[in-house]
Amino acid sequence: PFPEFVKIVEVGPRDGLQNEKTIVPTKDKIHLINSLAQTGLSVIEATSFVSPKWVPQMADNKEVFAGITKVPGVSFPVLTPNIQGFKGALEAGAKEVALFAAASETFSKKNINVTIEESMARYKDVCDAAKENNIKVRGYVSCVLGCPYENNVPISKVVEVSKRLYDLGCYEISLGDTIGVGTPGATYKLLQAMSQAIPMEAIAVHFHDTYGQALANILTSLQFGVSVVDSSVSGLGGCPYAKGATGNVATEDVLYMMKDLGIDCNVDMEKLMGVSLWISKLLNRSPSSKVSLALSHK
Ligand code: HMG
Ligand code: MG
Repeated sequence: PFPEFVKIVEVGPRDGLQNEKTIVPTKDKIHLINSLAQTGLSVIEATSFVSPKWVPQMADNKEVFAGITKVPGVSFPVLTPNIQGFKGALEAGAKEVALFAAASETFSKKNINVTIEESMARYKDVCDAAKENNIKVRGYVSCVLGCPYENNVPISKVVEVSKRLYDLGCYEISLGDTIGVGTPGATYKLLQAMSQAIPMEAIAVHFHDTYGQALANILTSLQFGVSVVDSSVSGLGGCPYAKGATGNVATEDVLYMMKDLGIDCNVDMEKLMGVSLWISKLLNRSPSSKVSLALSHK
């Protein structure tokens, strides 16, 4: 049985753009987010409050957040790696933040410059501050199906890190296949273990499509009862600290797959296609989304 409703978490403006070499003008980022907010999407990750030395593309976080229209009913979470980022997000007016931990020790060091254990201490501080300020917290775990530095990542480590973030107060744990190496078989095993640790309603899946497995992995996840899927318009993206990893699964492709499964996502495909073609043109490339390519040639 498939879930009746699936919440799509649109991560294009953050996960997508963070990997662009040329800096996208702030006004275009704002336009992208505002257009996405008109498609019916209920969660749009807007930006990151991370070090501009590490991720220059997100240096305009304050301006982007201030510039977007806060559509009622739409949540605009922002990434925060530490309390400094949390304070920035709070000052900017964010109502939801996302923490990002990893199940691989080396990736944790490369991405946020601390061990997993140290990151948990930081995230406890962020979660405590979030509680005091009534801010919702989402949690990511990276490298759940493989790491660019350590290759294999034990499922037990993914479960442990996820459970710790959940216990700190994250309402949702997004399982990140950062480098897109996962397959349906591996996804099945992971979710089997995860379902013993955290309520299924609190699990989200976040697939990058490097090996073309993302849709198959999502279908596997839906069969497991997962009802939150991260994706990025036009398939934008990658992670600056995961060389060779391509973008997230495209939101259009996810929507297209859902329609005959009887799953409602409450997103207007035509409007989304418009955004996909606009951002692709702006970035001077064709969409990575097969659905966008197919529909735009009709
Ligand atoms: P650090 O260098 O260890 O930080 O970086 P530090 O505490 O030693 O401070 C050094 C400098 O950074 C200081 O400035 C701080 O003020 C500044 P200076 O005195 O040198 O001028 N600083 C900050 N500035 C702005 N915002 C902050 C902040 N914190 C410190 N929040 C740090 C540690 C975590 C900051 C750094 O490693 C960082 O910013 N990392 C972010 C990396 C990142 O954004 N990666 C991509 C997102 S994760 C992802 O894509 C995966 C995901 O999609 C899921 C998946 O696919 O798996 C979520
Ligand atoms: Mg990602």
